[in-house]
Amino acid sequence: MPDIRESEPKSRWDALVHTGADTPMGQLLRRYWWPVAGQRELEAAPTRAVRLMGEDLVLYKDLSGNYGLIDRRCRHRRADMLHGFIEKCGLRCSYHGWLYDQTGQCIEQPYEDQAHPEARLKDQVRITAYPVQAHGGMLWAYLGPLPAPLVPDWEFFGWENGFRQIVISEIPCNWFQCQENSIDPVHFEWQHGNWNIRARGKTGPYQPTHVRVDFTEFEYGFQYKRIRTDTDETDRLWQIGRVCLWPNALFTGNHIEFRVPIDDATTLSVTWHFSRVPTEREPYVQKDRDIPTWHAPVKDENGRFITSHVMNQDFLAWVGQGTIADRSQEYLATSDRGIVLMRNQFLRDLDAIAKGKDPKAVIRDPKANRRVMLPVAERKPLMEGKPIAELLKDPDQAARIGDYIFQAGQPKEVRQAYLAAMGVNDADVKPLDQAVDILAPPEKRIARSS
Ligand code: FES
Ligand SMILES: [Fe+2]
Repeated sequence: MPDIRESEPKSRWDALVHTGADTPMGQLLRRYWWPVAGQRELEAAPTRAVRLMGEDLVLYKDLSGNYGLIDRRCRHRRADMLHGFIEKCGLRCSYHGWLYDQTGQCIEQPYEDQAHPEARLKDQVRITAYPVQAHGGMLWAYLGPLPAPLVPDWEFFGWENGFRQIVISEIPCNWFQCQENSIDPVHFEWQHGNWNIRARGKTGPYQPTHVRVDFTEFEYGFQYKRIRTDTDETDRLWQIGRVCLWPNALFTGNHIEFRVPIDDATTLSVTWHFSRVPTEREPYVQKDRDIPTWHAPVKDENGRFITSHVMNQDFLAWVGQGTIADRSQEYLATSDRGIVLMRNQFLRDLDAIAKGKDPKAVIRDPKANRRVMLPVAERKPLMEGKPIAELLKDPDQAARIGDYIFQAGQPKEVRQAYLAAMGVNDADVKPLDQAVDILAPPEKRIARSS
């Protein structure tokens, strides 16, 4: 019997969710660089399995310090290159010793080179290979047509006096519904603010409600803006708001969340987080290759999704929409204008590449790619910093110092490195047992009693 769902009308947005190389959206997304690992991870182990947009690859750093990204399987008899030997130049298959350089060219075949040197069989052998670049403490991959554009040099990669950390999780759903969350202001009130109130066993009072939202496009994405019952047009979240950064991220100022398609059913969440150290700790220097990178669980020991931290709450919502959300069944409302703007922009980008043009936010001019400025609602405290005593007095800041609020599972050593950077001890910063409303204007920001 045919699946009844096959006869249902499909949504006009369906094309947006597919990321394979043989799909229009897969072709579009391959025009951008994607963060796939922390630079420090390759220091600890020189090869790493990467699955990106359905392609199985191995990321490596060779003995000369060059990065490469090649097919997971050897061209010879398909051995797993993850177990290869790193060499001065490239990665050598551990099975029969074929060696590939970072362009994918086979440059040694030990037996053939010895027994039949005149045949130079290796010259005919090439493996899939893609460019890799280190930037901001992350390793970026590009799977698209050459010449590759530039890895965007967003301004925050150059911010000083910050403790940075990179947090990676695997989310069992399609990347596009994750990215739609990057332009969805109203969800914050419910999936985070009011969720935290309910999680404490209370049925209210709920957080101030949103009364107005707006979305404005700029060169590198969209700004989304909000007014709640406790704010007005002078508030920084209306004046500047948050940024849906094109094509794959949410940027809030202190952190950026990239949604990276592993394949159509799985997404890698890669967060780059910046904590401004107190002014007493300046100058604080952390090298890119030293940025701690940790892998965060999404489920607890009972197999249930973790919901204690901000992004964990998001993950629950995205996975709950289905492995691939069925957009033919949704009922969009005025709060979703940003989501429609985003989807339409992707449709325009598909047209652009069909005409041989670059899509939105591809950067090729090196002069335009120096610390590219972005809208940042809380720029002043991030740039100028504050003394620790002042930070600890602000419930929002105190909560952030008391715990990494975005995801559960921060390893002890990262916590200790963070506290050392901030110049405080755990005892100074007991986690608040209170729900902090982080959208509230700073002057009205009080710890809401649970
Ligand atoms: S399978 Fe890789 S060298 Fe033989
Ligand atoms: Fe969220």
